[in-house]
Amino acid sequence: MNLSERYGPWAIIAGASEGTGRAFAQQIAAAGINCILIARREAPLQALAAELRAAHGVEIVICSVDLAHPDAAARIIELAGAREVGLYVSNAGADPNGSYFLDKGIEAWLGLVNCNVMTSLRCCHHFGRLMRARGRGGILLVGSGACYGSAPNLAVYSGAKAFDLCFAEGLWAELQPSGVDVLYLALNKTDTPAFRALLAEKNLPVPADLAAPADVARDGLARLPFGPVHNWGQADDEAKFGTASAAQRRARVEMIAQASKAVFGGKHGA
Ligand SMILES: NC(=O)c1ccc[n+]([C@@H]2O[C@H](COP(=O)([O-])OP(=O)(O)OC[C@H]3O[C@@H](n4cnc5c(N)ncnc54)[C@H](OP(=O)(O)O)[C@@H]3O)[C@@H](O)[C@H]2O)c1
Repeated sequence: MNLSERYGPWAIIAGASEGTGRAFAQQIAAAGINCILIARREAPLQALAAELRAAHGVEIVICSVDLAHPDAAARIIELAGAREVGLYVSNAGADPNGSYFLDKGIEAWLGLVNCNVMTSLRCCHHFGRLMRARGRGGILLVGSGACYGSAPNLAVYSGAKAFDLCFAEGLWAELQPSGVDVLYLALNKTDTPAFRALLAEKNLPVPADLAAPADVARDGLARLPFGPVHNWGQADDEAKFGTASAAQRRARVEMIAQASKAVFGGKHGA
């Protein structure tokens, strides 16, 4: 697959300065796609931008945006301007709280929901419409196995990731006829600075079986044309931490899409 032809000339990576976001940016830029890199801290974005410009000769735009803030999507859309964005990667969204719902102020949870759900939704709506009009593009939502069910300390995180999972499945079915790819990439434990910081804060050891961000990004980009779901480290027909395999979920979406044609019709709105 030629990434640049399918998803160029510009990509947005929301949460790009480290970990999986940084790995996505490195691999997308290496494919010759210009990048808009978003994170809160500007210094690591500047360093990454210099690295990518020097290594790959692509254009890089950086911007410090807090994706948890209600105006985040508007800022990203304004920043993108008339640039043709063929790929939107929603990467940021880990839970830095790791606590019971009632043991943190509500603002912490609303920020997590804004980052995972509201900002992502607004950006997918804006850039998705433009991709649909052009008849190509890709939307990649970085998710978690926590989307398949919750547990103590995960109430809001799992809820937000479950929203993204269902949203991605529906969007995949809606955009497939238009040539726009949608993928929910459910990660397992991954060796990112954010995850290591959470482990350190809780005095927990670093597990031996962490996924490497570069592998995760490579896998995510390779699976993007084969949505709606990919579970990291699992074959398409495996359901280790999910209640169904990616293949079973795909088949369910396709079955409901067929059945609901009689009710909704098969066409997109204007
Ligand atoms: N690591 C794991 O074990 C694991 C497991 C399952 C799923 N995931 C998923 O993988 C994705 C990446 O996780 P991660 O561990 O790398 O941590 P993360 O905090 O979600 O992502 C880190 C990146 O996003 C940026 N970022 C975080 N919050 C932001 C905000 N509010 N506004 C703007 N940028 C923000 C960070 O830069 P700044 O700090 O400079 O903003 C950094 O570049 C998340 O969606 C997470 O849910 C991770």
